[in-house]
Amino acid sequence: MCRREQRNRPGASALAPLPLGENAIIVGAMPPPGAVDATRDHGFHTLRVARVVTETPDAVSLVLDVPDELRATYEYAAGQFCTFRVVVDGATLLRCYSMSSAPGIDDALAVTVKRVPDGRVSNWINDNLSDGGEIEVTPPAGVFCLGDEPADLLLFAAGSGITPIFSILKTALAAGDRRIRLLYANRDRESTIFRAELDALAVAHGDRFVVIDHLDVDAGFVDAAVVARTLADDSTDCPAYVCGPTPFMDIVEDALLAAGVAPDLIHIERFTPAADLDESSAALADAPADGIELTIELDGRTETTAHRAGTTILQTARQLGMDPPYSCESGSCATCMGRLREGTVTMHTNDALTDEEVEEGWILTCQSVPTAPVVSVVYGYD
Ligand SMILES: Cc1cc2nc3c(=O)[nH]c(=O)nc-3n(C[C@H](O)[C@H](O)[C@H](O)COP(=O)(O)OP(=O)(O)OC[C@H]3O[C@@H](n4cnc5c(N)ncnc54)[C@H](O)[C@@H]3O)c2cc1C
Ligand code: FES
Repeated sequence: MCRREQRNRPGASALAPLPLGENAIIVGAMPPPGAVDATRDHGFHTLRVARVVTETPDAVSLVLDVPDELRATYEYAAGQFCTFRVVVDGATLLRCYSMSSAPGIDDALAVTVKRVPDGRVSNWINDNLSDGGEIEVTPPAGVFCLGDEPADLLLFAAGSGITPIFSILKTALAAGDRRIRLLYANRDRESTIFRAELDALAVAHGDRFVVIDHLDVDAGFVDAAVVARTLADDSTDCPAYVCGPTPFMDIVEDALLAAGVAPDLIHIERFTPAADLDESSAALADAPADGIELTIELDGRTETTAHRAGTTILQTARQLGMDPPYSCESGSCATCMGRLREGTVTMHTNDALTDEEVEEGWILTCQSVPTAPVVSVVYGYD
């Protein structure tokens, strides 16, 4: 269900052709029908919001009612997310929200959404949803998941980044006897999500769970010294899970590496803001054609064009005036996924699709550049 992510920073500027990084993979077109099982349901379902819980003045949790016939479809692993589709001021917008609930522990699937200043969807959800409302959601996805090995854990969260970390924490505490240290950074006490729940877990599991609170108002932003203090003497062999704003995650990652934590033990979930793709796609429209014929099908419309060097399939679709789905544009969310019908692509970052999905020909169009003379892609969401 969940393959954990490769550690990498989103080096791909939306304005520049993507460099061929160490994590790039070549993806071929989907196998013939019947050769593989179609694994995941990638479509949207309308779910009832059973409850809206006010967590802080800036954050709500949505407890979702998953009907019996969709139970299997909405099974998830701690750390995964769902993609939500809402219409705000006439624009259809897609955003990912991680489960704050833990599978097998919490009765219902819940996500927690924190307001972003001027953010369209986060504020719409906080202001408009109430008990009994409805929302469109895709089934769970993502690879920021707890591994099977019973190792002790280091957790690092800041702000809304606590959401998948909270799910991972509850799951890890419930199964086995791992020791867990959580560094949790927030602006101030009032904005701290799950304060009471974390305190209760620390009391219930005091012998093996420590939460280290960091409030910016008291101590300034987290720096390398704070991260170093979070590490117990023997904790550089533990897997580390990190989620929060980019500067926080960069500081944590650098400090962990400096302390000797192996790169493949560091797991990072990026809540990267959506970029202004109109601007970036327009800039790449002047790139020279590279001899590749690219066909894109979306919402029943099919366009064939001379591909421009370095341009992703998502950027090409936008240059063609299509309206492709996207959210993070950094390979984290799978909102932009499509399926290769013909040819090959290089996918620069994949922190969202499972190995099985890649074998089936699914690609993240925001990370995929065509590499065969003829390439054809169909967008997967309905
Ligand atoms: C895999 C994944 C899981 C996520 N899980 C969660 C979650 O559990 N809870 C949660 O609250 N959010 C989560 N996010 C972030 C969420 O998807 C949205 O990006 C966020 O809610 C902002 O969307 P918006 O429409 O409100 O803002 P937009 O209208 O897209 O952006 C408005 C402005 O705010 C900036 N901005 C956008 N997002 C952020 C941000 N996160 N921090 C700071 N500035 C930003 C933009 O650059 C822009 O200037 C997740 C993202 C990903 C990719
Ligand atoms: S838009 Fe998020 S993975 Fe492509």
